[in-house]
Amino acid sequence: MSQKRLYIKSYGCQMNVYDSGRMADILKPLGYQLIESPEGADMVILNTCHIREKAEEKVYSDLGRIRLHKGENMILAVAGCMGQAEGAEIMRRAPYVDIVLGPQTYHRLPEMIARAERSQDKTKGPGRGVLEIEFPVESKFDYLPQDHSDVGVSAFIAIQEGCDKFCTFCVVPYTRGAEYSRPVSSIYEEASRLVERGVKEITLLGQNVNAYHGQSSQGKEWGLGRLLEHLASLKGLERLRYMTSHPRDMDEELMMAHRDIPQVMPYLHLPIQSGSDRILEAMNRKHTRQHYLKIIEKLRTYKPDIALSSDFIVGFPGESEKDFEETMDLIQQIQYAQAYSFKYSPRHGTPGALMENQIPEEIKAERLARLQELLNAQQQAFNEASVGQIFPVLLDRKGKQDGQLLGKTPYLQSVYVEANPRLFGHSIDIRIEKAFANSLTGSIVTVDEVLKEPLE
Ligand code: 5AD
Ligand code: SF4
Repeated sequence: MSQKRLYIKSYGCQMNVYDSGRMADILKPLGYQLIESPEGADMVILNTCHIREKAEEKVYSDLGRIRLHKGENMILAVAGCMGQAEGAEIMRRAPYVDIVLGPQTYHRLPEMIARAERSQDKTKGPGRGVLEIEFPVESKFDYLPQDHSDVGVSAFIAIQEGCDKFCTFCVVPYTRGAEYSRPVSSIYEEASRLVERGVKEITLLGQNVNAYHGQSSQGKEWGLGRLLEHLASLKGLERLRYMTSHPRDMDEELMMAHRDIPQVMPYLHLPIQSGSDRILEAMNRKHTRQHYLKIIEKLRTYKPDIALSSDFIVGFPGESEKDFEETMDLIQQIQYAQAYSFKYSPRHGTPGALMENQIPEEIKAERLARLQELLNAQQQAFNEASVGQIFPVLLDRKGKQDGQLLGKTPYLQSVYVEANPRLFGHSIDIRIEKAFANSLTGSIVTVDEVLKEPLE
């Protein structure tokens, strides 16, 4: 079989990174090997994001650049959420694109490639016009090889996909479709395979991961708390994480998992979006500020050191200065370890885009700057409070400088450390020495055990 070169670029969330890995797995038996840049590629896949307008503009500008390298034989595909939402528009604006597919159809990629290769239809321009964006009846998860050829010490597993919540700003229910949970056994098998390959940390992914309700082998429905407990039985698996969660689905079992399961890390990304009940209502978030605060209070009784993170949107239609102040006040009350924040971006087809009282760009920008200043100060304070403490750090990457490794604390802070390369892949106790805005530095406390292990 002839070797072919495949370049995949992921935009947006971790789910897309995971999906890109699975697409690489699907194409491997066809002879496709991953390469690092689009030049000279036989196939280019842009795995796109539709969440905000900015993500979309980036894709069109990248497409323009890739077009310059596109010879007769290169197959250019646009996958992911933008493909789902804007398939026909992409074909119109960038007719040199050969294949457009959505997030639910990538198990059919080999067939789409064959069709593109056969296609003589040049009427749509130089592209080959293969468009696959329906939601198929079969689940892609049943058809995906699980090579995870790209896997390191820390890996992701998609356990749930889609969303039925319909927040009025969000395209996800339209691009990813209705909520779906994979059966427990299929997730467990994927996790076992990863652990056999040396994975020590698994992050369970889903657009609404804590709405997980998969079938167990006894035919019962399990929630995420139960699933975490089951996965924690895998020998060698040291850390479990999950994202992204919705406050409505934060049940007792899941909160207790943070208290009772040592592998479940003391970190939670729980987006609230706004601290104002009026705006939460307009966003159709289905929870109040009080409800959210109660969850955090409970979690902190179960797991006092839990680090918290959130997403915020500023400038949602109708947001007054007072509403915004309520968001600032909520942030003051909670004290986040980390957070993401965005200016509201009206998305075609969502109710928010049709609302009156859209907020002018300057006000959005001004509020975002104030919000980010506060969040950055909290992140810095959280990092500074780590100085002098000893944390187990899972060293999963090489650092920027020679002789340096990079890893994560249980609270998801990045730590740079001078370390013997043999410590790569191990969880090592590190004493934190310095704190920066986005990272920490530290030094190794003891490595005797690891260094005694025989070299492979
Ligand atoms: N505008 C701005 N931010 C958005 N998000 C989702 N939709 C929009 C939008 N239309 C943010 C939310 C969500 C995160 C993934 O992206 O904060 O939690
Ligand atoms: Fe989007 Fe809301 Fe669903 Fe999250 S819960 S994916 S923000 S609609």
